[in-house]
Amino acid sequence: MTLVLVHGGVSGVDKAMPGLQDAIRAGATQSNALDAAEEAVRSLEDHPELNAGYGAVLNRAGEVELDAAIVDGARGRWGGVANVRFRNPVSLARMVMERTPHVLLAGTGAQEAGVAFGLEEMNESSPEQHERWARERDAGRLGLESYGRSEHVDTVGVVVLDEASRLCAASSTGGVLGKLPGRVGDSPILGAGTYASSGAAVVGTGVGELFLETLACLRAARLIEEGLDPQAACERTVSLLGERQQVAAGLLALDTGGRVGAAFRGGSWSVWGPEGPIGAVCLGPARD
Ligand code: GLY
Repeated sequence: MTLVLVHGGVSGVDKAMPGLQDAIRAGATQSNALDAAEEAVRSLEDHPELNAGYGAVLNRAGEVELDAAIVDGARGRWGGVANVRFRNPVSLARMVMERTPHVLLAGTGAQEAGVAFGLEEMNESSPEQHERWARERDAGRLGLESYGRSEHVDTVGVVVLDEASRLCAASSTGGVLGKLPGRVGDSPILGAGTYASSGAAVVGTGVGELFLETLACLRAARLIEEGLDPQAACERTVSLLGERQQVAAGLLALDTGGRVGAAFRGGSWSVWGPEGPIGAVCLGPARD
């Protein structure tokens, strides 16, 4: 059976994370790790309370700009998209990987490619996210000084191992609430917010700039490939992130033996596997 692990995004505050069990089910029906990763993330993207696809947070201008990536660790292939407006950007990321000679598409060109591939465009997020954006704007919390507040960050992601020992990883996000238009986060960048190889699959959640500057997922994966237990690799890498900046940040990892790692800094983080919630180790609070 395909092993699927999903997360609903780290938060500075204690927050319910609905929809994770449905995503596990959607992924576990697939025998191929890549199909499982895509199906699980699509399920998360369709959920209005998760920051991806239909539930995505908005940028400073109140617009939807989504990022996503999918990585096929066994074949060493990946695809990413940035600043797009589709309900399921993870599927566009897979199309970039499989149907174009490219790896990463952004902005207008990525949007045009998705339309040409027949994907459903999405110019509005959920009503709750538009209301949230208006509340934050009215309270003066969309300025640069508020950027990355721990209740403004979250992302969804999955790591998968199939019966043929293939590892895959995928992430999808609206990014950080109030980000500048055009900002690209870590989720669509290999090694920053999403990574998989033949030996490890890792996804990250939190303020993307920290993951981009440290290539956090690649670091954790390298430790696992060198033989470290995924839990120890996640804890060591999240500790290192905390030495730079004590913002909300989490890492979820899986190896070919099905060993899982999950560690974070922040108020809450829901990670689920086939048996239910997985206790991610909290290494400390996030400081805004
Ligand atoms: N980790 C999601 C982002 O910063 O865009």
